[in-house]
Amino acid sequence: MGQLEGRRALVVAGAAGIGRACVERFCAEGARVVFSDIDDAGGRRLEADLRAAGRAAWFVRSDAGAADAVRALVAQAIDTLGGLDLLLNNAGIAVSKDLLDLTDEDFDRTIDVNLKAAFVASQAAARHMLATGTRGSIISMSSVNAVLNIPNLLTYNISKGGLNQLTRNLAIRLAPHGIRVNAIGPGTILTDLVRKTIYTSEAAKAAVMSRTPMGRAGEVDEIAAIAVFLASDASSYVTGQVIYADGGRLPLNYTV
Ligand SMILES: NC(=O)c1ccc[n+]([C@@H]2O[C@H](COP(=O)([O-])OP(=O)(O)OC[C@H]3O[C@@H](n4cnc5c(N)ncnc54)[C@H](O)[C@@H]3O)[C@@H](O)[C@H]2O)c1
Repeated sequence: MGQLEGRRALVVAGAAGIGRACVERFCAEGARVVFSDIDDAGGRRLEADLRAAGRAAWFVRSDAGAADAVRALVAQAIDTLGGLDLLLNNAGIAVSKDLLDLTDEDFDRTIDVNLKAAFVASQAAARHMLATGTRGSIISMSSVNAVLNIPNLLTYNISKGGLNQLTRNLAIRLAPHGIRVNAIGPGTILTDLVRKTIYTSEAAKAAVMSRTPMGRAGEVDEIAAIAVFLASDASSYVTGQVIYADGGRLPLNYTV
C-alpha cells in the first residue's frame, strides 16, 4: 500500500526536472495525478510512459504565467480526479541578469510564474478543499534563494521569498480546517534550470560546490521524497514549514 493511495493530486509544471520526479513518485505511491506544463511534447511523453506503467496520470498543457489558465487548470484537475487532496506548486523560472539590465517584463514574468501561480492555484484549491471538507496538503517549491541571495537572480530571489511568506500565511489561515501548507527549499539540484542559469562554467560549478558542505549537487528524487513526506500522513502535524534540502548550505554561514 503506497503512502498516497487514492489521493488526488495536481502538480503544476511537472514534465521535467523536480516536478517530473514528484509526479513519478506521487504516482508510485498510489496517487492519481494531473500534471501541467508548457512543454506539450514532454508532458505527453511522460503521460504515455506513466500510463504504460499502469499509473493514473493526466497531462494538461497550461502556462503557469497566466492566472486565468491556472484557475482553469485547478478546475480541470478537480473535474478529472473528482476532487483534490494535494497541490504541488512547482513552476519556477529564473532570469539571470544584472540589476541594471532587468526589464519590467522580466520582473512580471518571474513573479507571475514563480509566485502568482502558486497564490492563484492555492486559493482555488483552498476554496475547493474548504467547500468539500477535504483535509488536504498544499506544497510549494521554494529555494534556498528565498533567504540567500544571488545578485543576478534578483527577481528569482524575490519570488521565492514571497513563496515562503505565502506558505506561512496560508498555513495559519487553513490550519483550523486540517489543510496543511508547506514548502521545500532545494539547494542545487541537477536539472536544466541549474545547467542554464547556475552551472554556466567550471568556475561557476566550483563556486557552487564551495558553498555545499556535502560536496555534491542534489538529485531530483531527493526532493520528491520530501514532497511525498509533506503530502502524506507522515507529516500530519507539520504546517507552515519550509524544509531545506541543500547539502548543508544554509548552516554553512558559520563564524570562524
Ligand atoms: N534545480 C534546482 O537546483 C532548484 C533549486 C531550488 C529551487 N528549485 C525550484 O524547483 C522548481 C523546479 O525546478 P527545476 O530545476 O526542476 O526546473 P526545470 O527547468 O528543470 O523544469 C521546470 C519545468 O517547468 C516547466 N515550466 C517552465 N515554465 C513554465 C510555465 N510558465 N508553466 C508551466 N510549466 C512551466 C518547464 O517546461 C519544465 O518542465 C522551480 O520552482 C525551481 O525554482 C530548483
